[in-house]
Amino acid sequence: MAHPHEPVPGTRLVALTELARSGTAECSFGPAHDPFRVVVFLNQGRLRAFENRCPHFSIPLNYEPGVFWVYDNATLMCAHHSAMFHLEDGRCFDGPCLGASLNRLAVEARAGAIWYAGEADDKRVQR
Ligand code: FES
Repeated sequence: MAHPHEPVPGTRLVALTELARSGTAECSFGPAHDPFRVVVFLNQGRLRAFENRCPHFSIPLNYEPGVFWVYDNATLMCAHHSAMFHLEDGRCFDGPCLGASLNRLAVEARAGAIWYAGEADDKRVQR
């Protein structure tokens, strides 16, 4: 089921210069009590995006705004209970939601910005 506040494809997420500065950008859409959160990573020239929602407790992967724990440009760790996800595909390979996956999102870089392009075609996490 789609999130009610998921942006439409073509929505601008972040300036490329801003993303390049830290390698991570966090965006939020909708009201504070039920936002659709997006996190975008730019690591070693690769662009990846996920719904910022850990499949363990359905809360954001980060504790501090804009701070995400990425190791070796390959692993993303949830800040709450240390679930470990492959940055490549969002699959959890260790921790309390082993085998679950982050909701992968499609994004594209053009005209100096990153744009939302909808959900990736693979498996979604159930709400
Ligand atoms: S909320 Fe992410 S590991 Fe528990």
